[in-house]
Amino acid sequence: MIHELTNPLTKTLVTHLRDQRRDAVRFRHTIAELTKQLVYEAFHDFPLLDRTVITWTGELSCKTIDEESIVVVTVLRAGMPMLDSVMELLPDAHAGFLAMKRDETTHESVLYYDRLPDCKGKTILLVDPMVATGGSMIDALELIKSRKPSRIITLNIIGSPEGLDVVKSAYPEIDIYIAQIDEKLNEDKYIIPGLGDAGDRSYNTV
Ligand code: URA
Repeated sequence: MIHELTNPLTKTLVTHLRDQRRDAVRFRHTIAELTKQLVYEAFHDFPLLDRTVITWTGELSCKTIDEESIVVVTVLRAGMPMLDSVMELLPDAHAGFLAMKRDETTHESVLYYDRLPDCKGKTILLVDPMVATGGSMIDALELIKSRKPSRIITLNIIGSPEGLDVVKSAYPEIDIYIAQIDEKLNEDKYIIPGLGDAGDRSYNTV
C-alpha cells in the first residue's frame, strides 16, 4: 500500500528541496528531516515490547520498539542521509548497504554490491529517496525478499506514478511511505518536477 504524507510541514520541506539554491548540507539535512517524518508515520502501529530500565527512581518497566529486529537498507549514495537519519532514531537497528548504478543509455539500474546483515524474520526499512522507474527498488526488493524478512517497509521522498505502480504491482504486500508523488517521468527517466539527481545534489557530484 502506498502512504503519501499529507502534513503541511512535509509539503514545505519538499518545496525547500526543490529549490536549486539549497546547498548540499541543507539538502541532506532536509532529506534527513523528511525521513524522520516518514519513520514516525510508518511506525504509528509498530508493536511495543516491555523493557526494564534503571531510572532515577529505580527499576521501571517501559515500552520500546525492538530496535534490533529492524534492518535499515540503503541504496548508495542518495540513500545515505536517510540511513543516518533513521539510525539516529533507532540506534540499535542494523544497517545494510546496496550499491546500484544507473545505465544512462538504457536507464536500467545495475546492482553491483550488496552487504546485508541477517534479515531473516526482521523488519526491513528500505530507504531510497527517488522512485523513478521503480527498477532499482524492484532489484533491491528482490534481493531483500530472498533473505526472508518478516516485513518490508520502504521510505521514499519523491516518486513518479509510473515507478510506484511498477513497485506496487510487483510487491502489493509492501508498505511504501512517501513524502510526495510527483507528476511523471521525462524521456530521460527523471522525475518531473522532482529534485534533479538526489545523489548529486546531496554530495555536489557534478
Ligand atoms: N534519480 C534521481 O535522483 N532523480 C530522478 O529524478 C530520478 C532518479
